[in-house]
Amino acid sequence: MKRTKIKDLLNATDFGQQVTVKGWVRTFRNNQFIAINDGSSINNIQAVVDFTSTDESLLKRLTTGAAVSVTGELVESLGKGQRVEIKVGQLEILGDCDAEKYPLQPKKHSLEFLREIAHLRFRTNTFNAVFKVRNALAFAIHKFFNEQGFVYMHSPIITGSDAEGAGEMFRVTTIDLDNIPRNEDGSVNYKEDFFGKSTNLTVSGQLEGELAALAFGEIYTFGPTFRAENSNTTRHLAEFWMIEPEMAFYDLNDNMDLAESLLKYVIRYALDNCGDELEFLKGRLQEEEKLKPQNERSDLDLISKLNFCLENSFERITYTEAINILKSSKPNQKKQFKYLIEDWGADLQSEHERYLVEKHFKKPVILTDYPADIKAFYMKQNDADDQGRNTVRAMDILFPGIGEIVGGSQREEVLEKLERRMTEMHIPVEEMSWFLDTRRFGSVPHSGFGLGFERLVLFVTGMTNIRDVIPFPRTPKNAEF
Ligand code: 4AD
Ligand code: MG
Repeated sequence: MKRTKIKDLLNATDFGQQVTVKGWVRTFRNNQFIAINDGSSINNIQAVVDFTSTDESLLKRLTTGAAVSVTGELVESLGKGQRVEIKVGQLEILGDCDAEKYPLQPKKHSLEFLREIAHLRFRTNTFNAVFKVRNALAFAIHKFFNEQGFVYMHSPIITGSDAEGAGEMFRVTTIDLDNIPRNEDGSVNYKEDFFGKSTNLTVSGQLEGELAALAFGEIYTFGPTFRAENSNTTRHLAEFWMIEPEMAFYDLNDNMDLAESLLKYVIRYALDNCGDELEFLKGRLQEEEKLKPQNERSDLDLISKLNFCLENSFERITYTEAINILKSSKPNQKKQFKYLIEDWGADLQSEHERYLVEKHFKKPVILTDYPADIKAFYMKQNDADDQGRNTVRAMDILFPGIGEIVGGSQREEVLEKLERRMTEMHIPVEEMSWFLDTRRFGSVPHSGFGLGFERLVLFVTGMTNIRDVIPFPRTPKNAEF
């Protein structure tokens, strides 16, 4: 018989039909009730076996984690919390699961424990919900851009350039596994080249995106990017996914408008399409919040927080205005910063970003016009201000609980200005000649930004550690499989 997905049965009303369900046993209670999950929903279906007529050796194999196929009549359930159940006629064990050895038990496991068995954590409700939301958000991003006529452009993963000029890259090397070159002490001697050229894993698809935007008008990339920063925080990964739209003829305001509408669109999409998952994650977060001291608890639940974000326009202020707010924050509030901002020109620490968003404005904030010296070479240069300070047309979007979720800018489109800045920042102008062709041949004002996909998934799911929103986290301590 053809298999039906559990999701399609949970709200069925045509009782009496014969159905086949295949999935994994979550629990088996009273020698009678099997809770089966097939991943299509975070909810299980209950299958009721008649133990008087079922072989006892078969019942013994109904352990948590075992794969089963059941066929039987769909009936209305009298049990609490479920509308339907299956009266089992035929039961088959597809794959046994040794309960003694299986790490997942029918109880709540900590996220730390599940991170250690990341290869099995897909089988839990929490990760079912998180990765369903991740999937929906990825789909919504493609939908948003395609509805607006943007072209999806695949940027390379192996590249010869350093898009951010920050130098935190993984080098690509070639190695002959049958003949591994060794140093005298036995350590591996890596060849420092990619068939004779020096290459890295990309930190951003932006520069390639700019090439395409100056031909197609509006493009976006959506792919993995890599940063070799040795940071073990709850917000950083060595491998993360980034969405990078790039648009010809957009100034910084157009850029901010696009970023704000993209974020609102995808959050709306998740609310409309991931109801069950978000309800579940809301409950999970509430449990987690209960463990915090009263004054640190959030006053909004997950769903209200997402709706709140949709209903309010993001606050737009300049870096200079933000510094003034931070400097004049009341002394008792000021004490909560470990790093005080004393001087204009310093980069904001995440605690400053969070103060602005969570305490001062209490909504998402877009910070613009950062000091030129703390931003990348390609950002459009403003005229110096009345105190002679140089800023660039940068924008960072800061989100509650997350900090920076988007980083972008209007781009410097004037060849001479860009070349001068690159020289000042020791970026090899000659090697980047291909990029500078955009400014040599038909240059136009243009803008773009990068949205960190995992930070978006963190925000929407209410999870607190970035390792819990990507299937296989890559951090300095995590790269087994
Ligand atoms: O601010 P970033 O470094 O900007 C760029 O790479 C630009 N080229 C983007 C552009 O204008 N096209 O990174 C953009 C976003 C950040 O705001 C953050 O959300 C995310 O990428 N991000 C990270 N996410 C996880 N782990 C890391 N190590 C991240 N580094 C940046
Ligand atoms: Mg940034």
